Amino acid sequence: MPRTIALPSPAATRRLATRVAKGLRPGDVLALVGPLGAGKTTFVRALVEALGGDPAEVVSPTFVLATRYAAGCRIPLVHVDAYRLEGAEEFRNLGHEMLFPADSATVIEWADRVRDALPSRTVRIEMQPSGRSSRTARIGGPAARVSILFGLGRRGS
Ligand SMILES: Nc1ncnc2c1ncn2[C@@H]1O[C@H](COP(=O)(O)OP(=O)(O)OP(=O)(O)O)[C@@H](O)[C@H]1O
Ligand SMILES: [Mg+2]
Repeated sequence: MPRTIALPSPAATRRLATRVAKGLRPGDVLALVGPLGAGKTTFVRALVEALGGDPAEVVSPTFVLATRYAAGCRIPLVHVDAYRLEGAEEFRNLGHEMLFPADSATVIEWADRVRDALPSRTVRIEMQPSGRSSRTARIGGPAARVSILFGLGRRGS
């Protein structure tokens, strides 16, 4: 059962990312889903900053399909933008070592395009516009990780 979080401003989205960063550990996989301008990169930038990295390094990876932010980061973060990927097979071809290094967490924009290649431990964050500057995030995935990363119980308290 997905749980829902209101994000009434870009600042609220950044605060959510800061919260998630606190509980993040190597091996975590975050799947970001939502239309153009939903706030996926905004979330990733704040996540990198909260991990200790430089948020200015975070751009939508136009020329590279996957980037790894490590400098200053408590946990290195692999950032994939699946927008330009053909699908799960092209994603898999990037290689497990590039996508899911053992010492890193991974965050994927447009993750539904590669859904079939995502591990079962993946936590899904679906961002939907609900107004000019508001978004709604629906959170799904293994209850234990969702609880630690988002402070959400099984019934969405
Ligand atoms: N509540 C909100 N949360 C996040 N961003 C918001 C919110 N309200 C407005 N915005 C604005 O929406 C834009 C989101 O852009 P962003 O690049 O993060 O989206 P994206 O989902 O990564 O898009 P793309 O699919 O093109 O990569 C930013 O300009 C941001 O300021
Ligand atoms: Mg983006």
